[in-house]
Amino acid sequence: MARARGAFLLLLLGAVHLFALAAAVPQDDPRCRPSIPRRGAVAIYPSDLEQLQFLLNAKFIEAEWFLHAALGRGIDRLARNLSAGGPPPAGARKASLDFHTTEIAAELGYQELGHIRAITNAMGGFPRPAIDLSADRFAAIMDDAMGTRLDPPFDAYNSTVNFLLASYILPHVTASVTVGIAPALMGYSSKRLHASVLAVEAGQDAVIRMLLYQRADETVAPYRGHTVAEFTRRISDWRNGMSGCGAKDEGVKVLDRRQGAERRTISNILGAGVDSLGYQRTPAEALRILYGSRNEQVPGGFLPRGANGTIARGFFQLA
Ligand SMILES: *[C@@H]1O[C@H](CO)[C@@H](O)[C@H](O)[C@H]1NC(C)=O
Ligand SMILES: *[C@@H]1O[C@H](CO)[C@@H](O)[C@H](O)[C@H]1NC(C)=O
Ligand SMILES: *[C@@H]1O[C@H](CO)[C@@H](O)[C@H](O)[C@H]1NC(C)=O
Repeated sequence: MARARGAFLLLLLGAVHLFALAAAVPQDDPRCRPSIPRRGAVAIYPSDLEQLQFLLNAKFIEAEWFLHAALGRGIDRLARNLSAGGPPPAGARKASLDFHTTEIAAELGYQELGHIRAITNAMGGFPRPAIDLSADRFAAIMDDAMGTRLDPPFDAYNSTVNFLLASYILPHVTASVTVGIAPALMGYSSKRLHASVLAVEAGQDAVIRMLLYQRADETVAPYRGHTVAEFTRRISDWRNGMSGCGAKDEGVKVLDRRQGAERRTISNILGAGVDSLGYQRTPAEALRILYGSRNEQVPGGFLPRGANGTIARGFFQLA
């Protein structure tokens, strides 16, 4: 009897829950309509396409990185059509992660699949470019950033903290170039997509930075004397050096409070500039970092054969 009553209660709760879900998504409630564009506004300008398509380059890298690290498989297994026949990434594999980090990495990777699909559907796309995610690639960046030959070589796939440090390299680039292309966008649909992509991309950067901040004072085994905080500062300096456009990037824990929020904090979980506004980078700056060549006309690094799309290809024509 008590059991039957329990089951009935559960059913009732289920029904209430379903009703609540349905109520939360009103079909045609005028109070819930998105803001209406101004009369005569254009949804997408042709020049918007190349700007948003540019982001696909970084998003292909991030998708393959996070998904492989978490699940041991990438776009070709999880959303085959998205790669549009581009070559599989080199060197990507499952990382040795704790359960918590595996879940987070998988979520971030799946988010990138969504972004690639959304951008491609709205703006058109291109096949996945050739991508290098080998441990050697990350090791070379870390040596370069740390200004020394790490021994043994840094292995991005070896542990949770190594994975987080390697992950630190990517979302900042994508988030800052997403900010950077904002002034070039004109259509209201383009702006809506852009803002929605940026909201989640900035969140990804924050999540990685937060997880690293929680470990800021730990030594990165087996590199005695080098803390997590130092690694992040050095990687940020490395990105500033590659892009060659001044200081637009800081580690998760700064040495000088003046780099923190309102020039008062040592914690720097959200790296940002004056008035805590997100940094902006141009597509050329992003490519200099992703190529690791300091030159948007010289491919390499994560994109050994270069990025695709009108903007990136345009730099090759100049070369
Ligand atoms: C993938 O592409 C094939 C052929 O191009 C098409 O038949 C299929 O429906 C697509 N699948 C999805 C999930 O879009
Ligand atoms: C770039 O994209 C075009 C389609 O837009 C494709 O034909 C070409 O093969 C791609 N190039 C590279 C290097 O991936
Ligand atoms: C790999 O991780 C183990 C701990 O899990 C550590 O002892 C070892 O030094 C690490 N090796 C590298 C190259 O990071």
